[in-house]
Amino acid sequence: MAEVVIVPSEQEAGRLVGDAIVDLIQRRPDAVLGLATGSTPLAVYRHLAERVRGEDIDVSRVRGFALDEYVGLPAGHPESYRSVIEREVVEPVGFDSARIEVPHGDLDGIETAGEQYEAAIRAAGGVDLQILGIGRTGHIGFNEPGSSLASLTRVKTLTEETRADNARFFDSPDDVPMHCVTQGIGTILRARHLVLLAFGEAKADAVAAAVEGPVSTSAPGSAVQLHPHVTVVVDEAAASAL
Ligand code: GLP
Repeated sequence: MAEVVIVPSEQEAGRLVGDAIVDLIQRRPDAVLGLATGSTPLAVYRHLAERVRGEDIDVSRVRGFALDEYVGLPAGHPESYRSVIEREVVEPVGFDSARIEVPHGDLDGIETAGEQYEAAIRAAGGVDLQILGIGRTGHIGFNEPGSSLASLTRVKTLTEETRADNARFFDSPDDVPMHCVTQGIGTILRARHLVLLAFGEAKADAVAAAVEGPVSTSAPGSAVQLHPHVTVVVDEAAASAL
């Protein structure tokens, strides 16, 4: 059963989860973090950056693995998740960019991208704390409804709904890639602690399905119920269907 924490604001969630990450790094300077993109974890990264900078915390040995990446964006595209992770996490916090990995989304070598990523996570000893957002479709990472609960990192097709949601980051909706490389649900479940965040009413149904619904491939977030150590941090609006 997941522990559900209802907080008054995103800022408060950022403090709570950011502090938990600092505690982890202070206990384990070579901690392995699972990083999510999207707007949801931004308050966490902001608070983490504030504490790391303010208290001069050594993060030079921390490793990180992003959940997913778009397929086929040109190298250095500002909306590739490699760029987003650099801009929103690596630079503000001061992580060593070489120790923070993002799946390879280049078409060249895409067949082996999933396997390589799994091997890299294994070689790092697995993820200690995985930050997760949840999409309106209930996706975690980019595991859309229908994804196997045992899936590993692989190429997936994005749903039209997710492409529409993410169109705000691109000049035109047609520019949103059709495919992604995403950690599988099975990959995510191997992390030692999952922290699922969600804010706003638009996420209420996905949160309820994840936390209270039947465990089902039609609600990928519900896979968190299979994990022994899950913390769900939501605001009142995202908790409103619980
Ligand atoms: C994106 C990401 C997910 C993220 C989700 C929610 O498409 N691939 O990892 O959790 O959608 O996005 P947001 O946090 O912006 O609502």
